[in-house]
Amino acid sequence: MQPQVQAFHHADTGTWSYVVADPATRTAAIVDPVLDFDAKSGRTSTPSAQALLDHVRNQGLQVRWLLETHAHADHLSAAHWLKSQHFPDATLAIGEGIRDVQKAFRPIFNLGEHFPIDGSQFDHLFADGEAFTIGELDARVIAAPGHTSDSNAYLIGDALFTGDSLFMPDGGTARCDFPGGDAATLYRSIQRLFELPENTRVFVCHDYGPGGREVRCETTIGEQKRGNIHVRDGVDEAGFVTMRKARDATLAMPALILPAVQVNIRAGALPEAEDNGVRYLKVPLDRI
Ligand SMILES: [Fe+2]
Repeated sequence: MQPQVQAFHHADTGTWSYVVADPATRTAAIVDPVLDFDAKSGRTSTPSAQALLDHVRNQGLQVRWLLETHAHADHLSAAHWLKSQHFPDATLAIGEGIRDVQKAFRPIFNLGEHFPIDGSQFDHLFADGEAFTIGELDARVIAAPGHTSDSNAYLIGDALFTGDSLFMPDGGTARCDFPGGDAATLYRSIQRLFELPENTRVFVCHDYGPGGREVRCETTIGEQKRGNIHVRDGVDEAGFVTMRKARDATLAMPALILPAVQVNIRAGALPEAEDNGVRYLKVPLDRI
């Protein structure tokens, strides 16, 4: 039995979120849910997370896992909202490399010693190779550092959720210039993903519709090996690193990196309210 995968596109950030269900037991995981955030007003809202919730309810699913592929820099995570408001028994999990991300960003946001950098904001930190189940579906973690040090791919049945390590073949790969990112490391992570069977379904975390095509979320390992514009068969590590560094040098920071990272290293929880009852995000000047 293979998982049923329902994709949800978040147009503002080009993010794909997924509900992955075991058809036999109606057990499910939610991958990379998005919390809506309007940077102009500083207002958070939940229509995108609500759409996931509606699907779960309509399908009669029991959500067992809230999975983050990494601490995203382009959108705020709705995992904390989903867990605290709707799925208290679900396990909110990320890769154990989140500790390195927290360690890198704690001083940037001056979060102080009381902000743990041991990943304890999450329910579970996955190690590379760790196995888990979603109902009767077998799942496995493939650590895929490079874009970030905490990046994971999740192999659930025949479906691989790559986070940002691989985009659609015509989208290539994600940048490697954030703190903890490294292009050679990403290349090696992708080579591990390429060892999977060619018919493995691949679900990406972002698609921006290059060249004006319609957004897509699903491809296969075989299609990636044959056609990914950055890492198809025949591209060696040195060539990839040269390309990735040159390209990263041209990219502006993502619009939401500062709000997103300081929320996402808290597992999606918003900063604590100050004594006036209002929560604030910080903007460190001249740091990134
Ligand atoms: Fe990312």
